[in-house]
Amino acid sequence: MLHYNFLLITFASILLKSIMETKKRKLITLDEFTIQETRKFPNATGELSSLLRDIALACKIINKQVNKAGLVDILGKHGATNVQGEEQMKLDIFANETLINVLQNSAECAGIASEENDEFVSFDDAYSVNSKYVVLFDPLDGSSNIDVNASIGTIFSIYRRLSPLGSPCTEADFLQAGNKLMAAGYVIYGSSTMLVYATKIGVNGFTLETSIGEFCLSHPDMKCSENGKIYSLNQGNTNKYEQGVKDFLNYCMEENKEEGRPYSHRYIGSMVADLHRTLIKGGIFIYPADKKNTAGKLRLQYECNPMALIVEAAGGVADFGAGRILDIEPVELHQRTPIYIGSKKMVEKALSFAQ
Ligand code: AHG
Repeated sequence: MLHYNFLLITFASILLKSIMETKKRKLITLDEFTIQETRKFPNATGELSSLLRDIALACKIINKQVNKAGLVDILGKHGATNVQGEEQMKLDIFANETLINVLQNSAECAGIASEENDEFVSFDDAYSVNSKYVVLFDPLDGSSNIDVNASIGTIFSIYRRLSPLGSPCTEADFLQAGNKLMAAGYVIYGSSTMLVYATKIGVNGFTLETSIGEFCLSHPDMKCSENGKIYSLNQGNTNKYEQGVKDFLNYCMEENKEEGRPYSHRYIGSMVADLHRTLIKGGIFIYPADKKNTAGKLRLQYECNPMALIVEAAGGVADFGAGRILDIEPVELHQRTPIYIGSKKMVEKALSFAQ
């Protein structure tokens, strides 16, 4: 009898331990996470969560195609040029169309603006005109990296529309400053696929678990460290840079054992990949103005504002050289801006050379 009781107790404690461990390891999907977050705000309707679910769905479809890129004839230039006069590649077009189609069918999106389209698109069906959000996106950033199998990404931003519900969207809905963003995020198609999503109150990362086709919480409450040891910019353009940027580069390369210099230089040439590393490891990413391109290269509404919201919500800084990226009042959809973004102290240091 004693032996039987002992076995029973041992079995029960093993079972309890295993239940506790399963609970500890429980996967939290993006949907579960956003539903939990929504419950914290009594007036929240869940529309933003539903919109995020639709964006995540589009990105899962894009991810599938990105993974297949080497196998099917989808790789290579398509021949068309986008509004910036750059050659589009087939995957760019596929990603753009996928996001537009999914968002048009979403009940929560009134219209979109894409880096690949000249103009914004207003969805005027009965559901969409009554939706309160608009979405801006760069469907496939870093596309020149597709044919070398390096990481690329999708960047998205969500604003509450300014035009009245029930009417078509107007350009003003898409020309809001970054400080009006409701949420922003990116999906990186890399060694694993990850969705990083930010609101003003924080940043969370979700890794795509391919066996169940769900983004699962893997990087809760992401923080950008206050200082870093990696600088990231196209060093090949040094001759074209203003003196302040050249001086900062020299500072980064200078030997100073106490301060851990020289710093390391890393540059993929895909903003999502370079920013993802900056967020996780700390450092600075710069795409400055130069003598020829006085507004830099990167687009305010499709690349810089969403990344600025993410990095600021993680405790970092995003500046255009003379103020916060998020405070720029946009005047056109495809406007460009210089950007200094990343760890607070490193950005401050870089800007101190520009004074
Ligand atoms: P694209 O999508 O045309 O490849 O542009 C990528 C962007 C951005 O992701 C990256 O940081 C930057 O352009 C790289 O530009 P450079 O090649 O001039 O360094």
